[in-house]
Amino acid sequence: MNRTRRIEALQDLEPTVEEFHASVIEGLSAPRKTLPCKFFYDERGSRLFDEICELPEYYPTRTELGILERHAGDIAALAGPRARLVEFGSGAGVKIRLLLRALREPAAYLPVEISRDHMLAANEGIAAKFPGLCIAPVCADYTQPFTLPELPGNEFRTTLGFFPGSTIGNFTRDEAISFLRVARNLLGKEALMIIGVDLVKDAGLLKAAYNDKAGVTAAFNLNLLRRINRELGGTFDLAAFRHEARWNETLERIEMHLVSMKRQQVAIGEKRFHFAEGETIHTESSHKYRIDGFRMLTREAGYEPVTVWTDDQELFSVHALRTA
Ligand SMILES: C[S@@+](CC[C@H](N)C(=O)[O-])C[C@H]1O[C@@H](n2cnc3c(N)ncnc32)[C@H](O)[C@@H]1O
Repeated sequence: MNRTRRIEALQDLEPTVEEFHASVIEGLSAPRKTLPCKFFYDERGSRLFDEICELPEYYPTRTELGILERHAGDIAALAGPRARLVEFGSGAGVKIRLLLRALREPAAYLPVEISRDHMLAANEGIAAKFPGLCIAPVCADYTQPFTLPELPGNEFRTTLGFFPGSTIGNFTRDEAISFLRVARNLLGKEALMIIGVDLVKDAGLLKAAYNDKAGVTAAFNLNLLRRINRELGGTFDLAAFRHEARWNETLERIEMHLVSMKRQQVAIGEKRFHFAEGETIHTESSHKYRIDGFRMLTREAGYEPVTVWTDDQELFSVHALRTA
């Protein structure tokens, strides 16, 4: 194996501040105020998310890691040698290491991530652990069109997509299907796709996971307002909003909201937004799935389910799919 450090030039499609501004104005102008969760992840937001992953209440990360540890060998066998590995929302790049260790001669690792500096720092750690691995980072919003970097001279035999963390749950069902269709076109025919999906379970356990006692999830949620103040010149008073996570039984999703604790007005540039006491900004949904329901969804998006693994308590699932 080539022992030299091989991080390719960044393909940088980071959303601009104008795009951030336009999304925020649109979301806050809606009759039910919303903000897109992809903007949680500035540098501080990414660090707070990593802290969430360590919380005792936040079962998804450790449960998914356990499943991946048990089945990394199975995934490697399904992928075959010289796989090009594409990870969507790669974050701190922890889970990918389990796959990189198990794969036979991985051809390249292509992380796709909106939080640029966090990804670049994670890549340094991966490069140190896997010398000679070709890393070709893409900073992009994966809900928008982008292409994967070409890597001339770096032949791959198969493609392995990886979308862990139940990040797919942030989409509605229709959005998840659209995303998976786009991903299928990016990955190409007969690619293997591995997706981590959180499962429907006891509401108490779910609510605790998103309302941790240490208040890290609250800080993560409120950080979005801090980011708007910093980058867009907003006037949000962070002390006048509080975090709330609700279980929506009908839609089987956790909803994160920021609740206005009083009647107030907030400015973003020229725009003024009015909040009634108790009015909320819906900042994130985390849809929970049943195994069969998720498999049906992937079929609609043009994938053939191969297998699914869960933990003993069936808290979380990891799906292996093939692009049709
Ligand atoms: C829930 S975290 C999961 C992180 C990590 N994959 C894990 O499993 O722990 C979601 C990750 O996806 C990234 N992300 C969220 N929305 C994105 C988007 N639209 N495009 C690209 N990356 C996105 C975030 O920056 C974050 O790193």
